[in-house]
Amino acid sequence: MHSKINIAIDGHSSCGKGTLARELAHELGYTFIDSGSMYRAVALYFLENEIISQNKNQVAQALSQIQLEFVKNEHSGRFEIYLNNKSVEKRIREMDVAAVVSDVAALSVVRKTLVQMQQKLGAQKGVVMDGRDIGTVVFPQAELKIFMTADAEIRAERRYKELVATGSDITLNAVLSNLKSRDEIDSNRADSPLTLTADYRLLNNSHISQKEQLQIALQWVKEIQNPDQIA
Ligand code: DC
Repeated sequence: MHSKINIAIDGHSSCGKGTLARELAHELGYTFIDSGSMYRAVALYFLENEIISQNKNQVAQALSQIQLEFVKNEHSGRFEIYLNNKSVEKRIREMDVAAVVSDVAALSVVRKTLVQMQQKLGAQKGVVMDGRDIGTVVFPQAELKIFMTADAEIRAERRYKELVATGSDITLNAVLSNLKSRDEIDSNRADSPLTLTADYRLLNNSHISQKEQLQIALQWVKEIQNPDQIA
């Protein structure tokens, strides 16, 4: 039995970080945490309550009213995010939330609050968390850090197909431009921008399957847990 590690998966929007994180957690018997869903839930609260991001008092007051929890859906076996006792797992994936979430996630006071929650969730190790600053800020000591990316057009096409399958009438161009603008904001904001540092292992999944990316990541876990066996 290996001692548990924390795995940080950061990278660009819509490149399947969540899918890999979930599968990796399943294989290892670890807990998967989608940190983006926390930023999305806060963004949803701001939308529903007409909170203006520039209004510091309003934002501080709103954050004190927000309670986030991950609750297991007994049907699917997956954890869903609850905002003030209500599941918002589906709602937070809609385009109106996607359109504002990067701006909400750029607010330092929001980041500070959520990073504290995330660090608590990972304190016992055995967590796979995906986001933008997991390896740099949330778990700088994570034993394995993966930076995921893929060509923007390929990411947009995948996301577009998912949205259409759920009945959305969005265009491919709208998905591509939302994705590019999120990448731009996430990578250039002042507070904890998405950054590829030397301690990440890079995973570009433009031309590999989900199965292949899982095998690559599992191999990395193996290497970290059995450093003596590397040829
Ligand atoms: O991974 P996602 O698309 O669900 O993330 C939603 C937004 O939240 C995205 O614009 C980046 C931001 N985010 C962040 O700034 N830090 C994280 N750890 C996770 C997400």
